[in-house]
Amino acid sequence: MSPTTDVALADVDEAMADRLLQLAKGDASPDEVAPPLGGPGWNLERTAWFYGYHRAAAGGLDGPAAEKSWAVFTGPHIAGSVRLKREPGAGLPSAETGIWLGRSFRSQGIGGAALELVLAEARRAGLQRVTARTLAGNHGAQRLLTAAGAALTHDGDGTVHAVIDL
Ligand SMILES: CC(C)(COP(=O)(O)OP(=O)(O)OC[C@H]1O[C@@H](n2cnc3c(N)ncnc32)[C@H](O)[C@@H]1OP(=O)(O)O)[C@@H](O)C(=O)NCCC(=O)NCCS
Repeated sequence: MSPTTDVALADVDEAMADRLLQLAKGDASPDEVAPPLGGPGWNLERTAWFYGYHRAAAGGLDGPAAEKSWAVFTGPHIAGSVRLKREPGAGLPSAETGIWLGRSFRSQGIGGAALELVLAEARRAGLQRVTARTLAGNHGAQRLLTAAGAALTHDGDGTVHAVIDL
């Protein structure tokens, strides 16, 4: 796959959260974006979680939630979101990442480019490790993480733990 260079991260304020939710509703499965709250679809609980999450993450890695989220852009298009959350007690400065893209933006190298940008943010923040957890059946996510240098461990509970040492 040819590298996609026209990818950038943007901070998430309320207006950006609105745009992300619009993208999520039209171009992703709710379970790819938010925890399974309140039943299927974008119900009130899930929507409240979504805004609450991005509001808390606006405080950044050194804020009260120890978390930061970004919108992923490809050129002028909002394509998805990526996040980092500090993992206390990991023995070294570490954070967990997660990513989702709208379906129409997948398999074009955008995820790989966004992950590289997040790893650069992590290095800038002084982190030494980034981890992720995904389902054993999510081969796209595992490929993405491996391409970024992750070591994968199958945890026997149907999930895979990825560790990227920076
Ligand atoms: C996982 C996800 C972010 C990948 O982003 P993407 O932009 O599609 O990935 P890229 O195009 O950058 O591809 C990265 C690598 O993964 C591979 N890949 C992408 N989608 C794949 C799939 N569905 N199956 C197998 N491999 C896949 C690509 O071939 C590429 O491999 P390469 O570097 O050897 O060429 C995206 O598919 C997505 O948003 N999925 C839904 C949410 C999700 O699963 N998030 C992960 C939770 S940790």
